[in-house]
Amino acid sequence: MSEDILFELNIDHIRKVFNKYTKKAFQALPNMEKPRILDIGCGSGVPTIQLAKLCDGEIIGMDNDQSLLDELDRKIKDEGLSDRVKAIKGSLFEMDFPNESFDIIWAEGSIALIGFKKGLKEWKRLLKPKGFLVVHDDNKRLPNKLKTIPNCGYSLIKYFSLPDDAWWMDYYQPLGVRLDELRKKYKEKPKALKNLDIYQKEVNMVKKNPKAFGSVYFIMQKEK
Ligand SMILES: C[S@@+](CC[C@H](N)C(=O)[O-])C[C@H]1O[C@@H](n2cnc3c(N)ncnc32)[C@H](O)[C@@H]1O
Repeated sequence: MSEDILFELNIDHIRKVFNKYTKKAFQALPNMEKPRILDIGCGSGVPTIQLAKLCDGEIIGMDNDQSLLDELDRKIKDEGLSDRVKAIKGSLFEMDFPNESFDIIWAEGSIALIGFKKGLKEWKRLLKPKGFLVVHDDNKRLPNKLKTIPNCGYSLIKYFSLPDDAWWMDYYQPLGVRLDELRKKYKEKPKALKNLDIYQKEVNMVKKNPKAFGSVYFIMQKEK
């Protein structure tokens, strides 16, 4: 039952609204033939699948949560992408790919786990010379992050912020509506409803100050 309710919540359906920003960030990169891409902290792979649709490259989605990777695996099969998209389990704190393995590293919502500066420094060795790092992160300490980029040996190709109210209007508000619907539907099943609490807390937090929750895409190129 608890899994049923999360399946019905279908967060991915809401998350997909941000695919347009993944596309905008990808389009800031030069055209590449069959780029090798690592998607760090891919989750259930909404951006991973979007990247696969934007290019003819080989993509590795990496996460440490097997249930999310199973979900990504299901999407890979459904979309007929098994020949060039893989979901692998691993921790972003200890990645043992050889040096210069990837043309592009993609990280949406995951660099904060390691820290912006540390992520930039540690992930650089995985990029081929002049490879690209694309990060979607919160907009806190933006001027600091912009200074960190050249200091860590990257050039900034472009950065852009999501509209002020995008997270509320396009993600948390629809999520709140969906949660209300499920609360009504499962009102006799308190145990199942408990699984929604974590999502409800986030919605409540953002609702208090919708514009305080912003995020930025950084498109960077490895220089040295
Ligand atoms: C905010 S989610 C972002 C998911 C996906 N990139 C997206 O934009 O929809 C952060 C992801 O980082 C993953 N994560 C947390 N700790 C991790 C670790 N040590 N190594 C790899 N992934 C991790 C979580 O499981 C989660 O899927």
